[in-house]
Amino acid sequence: MQPTTARVGRDLKAALARCEERLEDAVGLGIENVAVPAATTLAAGGKRLRPLLVIACAGSGRNASEDVVRAAASVELVHMATLVHDDLLDGATIRRGHETIVSSHGPDAAIQVGDYLFARAFAELAATGHPESVGMLAQAALDLSCGELAQGRAACDLALREEAYTDRVRRKTASLFAAACRIGALLGGGSDDVQQRVADFGEAVGMAFQIFDDILDITGSTDATGKRRGADLRDGTITLPMIYAIQDEPALVDLIRGATDEEAIAVACDRLVGHSGVQRARARALAYVADARAVLDGDLAGANRDALVLVADGVVDRYA
Ligand code: IPE
Ligand code: IPE
Ligand code: MG
Ligand code: MG
Repeated sequence: MQPTTARVGRDLKAALARCEERLEDAVGLGIENVAVPAATTLAAGGKRLRPLLVIACAGSGRNASEDVVRAAASVELVHMATLVHDDLLDGATIRRGHETIVSSHGPDAAIQVGDYLFARAFAELAATGHPESVGMLAQAALDLSCGELAQGRAACDLALREEAYTDRVRRKTASLFAAACRIGALLGGGSDDVQQRVADFGEAVGMAFQIFDDILDITGSTDATGKRRGADLRDGTITLPMIYAIQDEPALVDLIRGATDEEAIAVACDRLVGHSGVQRARARALAYVADARAVLDGDLAGANRDALVLVADGVVDRYA
């Protein structure tokens, strides 16, 4: 299946292309030590789903205002910052099909590049005529850092409950999807009701997105995901497919606990691929997609409903 951004209409593609230029300019402004690795990560690709949400919720395409383009770039910059720091925390070696910054440049560089990207993101958004949007992105960044902290604290906790997992995912992933939508609607002139509605849509899509990412961590090849399979097992992150698999077959606790070397990680992934736990997690992700789609039946003012449907449907089975 083509990536979602390749399936949207010409006007949205034009706005995304302008966002890309804005990102290149913003990233290139830094001193070489941070600008070069940041530009390499930017050039490596990524799905650009969050900027697409900003632009679609603003209801703009070819005529997107400079402010909407800046806001779309700022949300992607926060996302990139969190990825650079997340790879440091997770000990990840491959991102977007290339070596991670922590792997190629070391942990100090990963901290500096992530900090730089965060700062650039807020500078971009503050340059728009919408100070309220800065508070929205700041709230998402706060949620994100709390979500990552909660994940770190729960490392290797094989008794992790579904509610704790859901709460963490809401903060570490869904909050930024929701903020992207809310900021788009704000800049597009949407009422408070419309802003809340698209934020609810973004939150449900973000939940589905992370659950499916957690499934792909077990089932997806590096060619498909651009990441290394088994990263969650490797760093002790207990995810929904694992929680469900353990509920269905308690003896799997030992397999997951013992997945500490590469051979055992591969064995555990292979064992989980066709497991009912993975199927149940997929069904849960699809239920969030259905929730997201249901929100789109309400008044969205000028938001681009067709594009939002494409995003919702593209989240699950995104590499199928
Ligand atoms: C990765 O996000 C982090 C998660 C929330 C799972 P994406 O899968 O959107 O990353 P890119 O931008 O496409 O690389
Ligand atoms: C999402 O979690 C990370 C952030 C929201 C920063 P993951 O750790 O699962 O993301 P990937 O798999 O590394 O992209
Ligand atoms: Mg990670
Ligand atoms: Mg992951």
